[in-house]
Amino acid sequence: MTALLELDQLGFAWPGQVELLDIPAFSLERNQSLFLKGPSGSGKTTLLGLIGGVQRAGRGTVRLLGEDLGALSASARDRFRVDHTGYIFQQFNLLPFLSVAENVALPCRFSRLRTERARERHGSVDQAAASLLTHLGLPAELFGRRAESLSIGQQQRVAAARALIGQPELVIADEPTSALDADSREAFLQLLFAECRAAGSSLLFVSHDQSLAPLFDRSLSLAELNRAARPAEA
Ligand SMILES: Nc1ncnc2c1ncn2[C@@H]1O[C@H](COP(=O)(O)OP(=O)(O)O)[C@@H](O)[C@H]1O
Ligand SMILES: [Mg+2]
Repeated sequence: MTALLELDQLGFAWPGQVELLDIPAFSLERNQSLFLKGPSGSGKTTLLGLIGGVQRAGRGTVRLLGEDLGALSASARDRFRVDHTGYIFQQFNLLPFLSVAENVALPCRFSRLRTERARERHGSVDQAAASLLTHLGLPAELFGRRAESLSIGQQQRVAAARALIGQPELVIADEPTSALDADSREAFLQLLFAECRAAGSSLLFVSHDQSLAPLFDRSLSLAELNRAARPAEA
């Protein structure tokens, strides 16, 4: 079977800047957790944007589930992204005025596939949201609260539940633990791993914090993949 995610001869530069990423080859298997390390400014968020289909590669291909993202129209790429990837942003990007439960259910509003999967497994989207939030350790009395009223640690759990709902094949996490202390970081990761396993999702997690690496199936430094990395990043 082919890998879940495959990069081939990927190149990317921001306008007016030197090439930031030059990645000859990279792949991620199904049901695998991968830790990708790199210092601030090394291109981690840019790479996740290319994999998530937010940015388009300058050259080369990003293949997710065998689909060449660069060959899709912008709207087809958006649909493909919401069907198959869950994204935990560094700042979580919750919608502040929506409730916790509404934030978690959001991907299902844009993806019939994820709605169907959530219903199949939990009966309804609302029950899927509640189940994920509970497993991630959020008390039920918070589900109806506005997202902006939660602590950072609680918002992080909401962001994780939103990424996981409807079982996307790939969960992408962009330094979601940087605001937590070491103990809460590891506890959160263990919950995230358990939920990814339950959903059958692979986890691609980037961070500058090397201490988290041993918790993952596989760990890599972006500089090992990226021929455009500056020597100081190795
Ligand atoms: N939207 C953008 N427009 C122009 N340059 C950007 C943009 N986002 C990031 N960059 C540049 O790309 C480089 C890598 O940034 P980024 O991918 O955010 O790294 P990291 O996530 O590893 O900290 C930086 O030099 C940054 O200035
Ligand atoms: Mg970043």
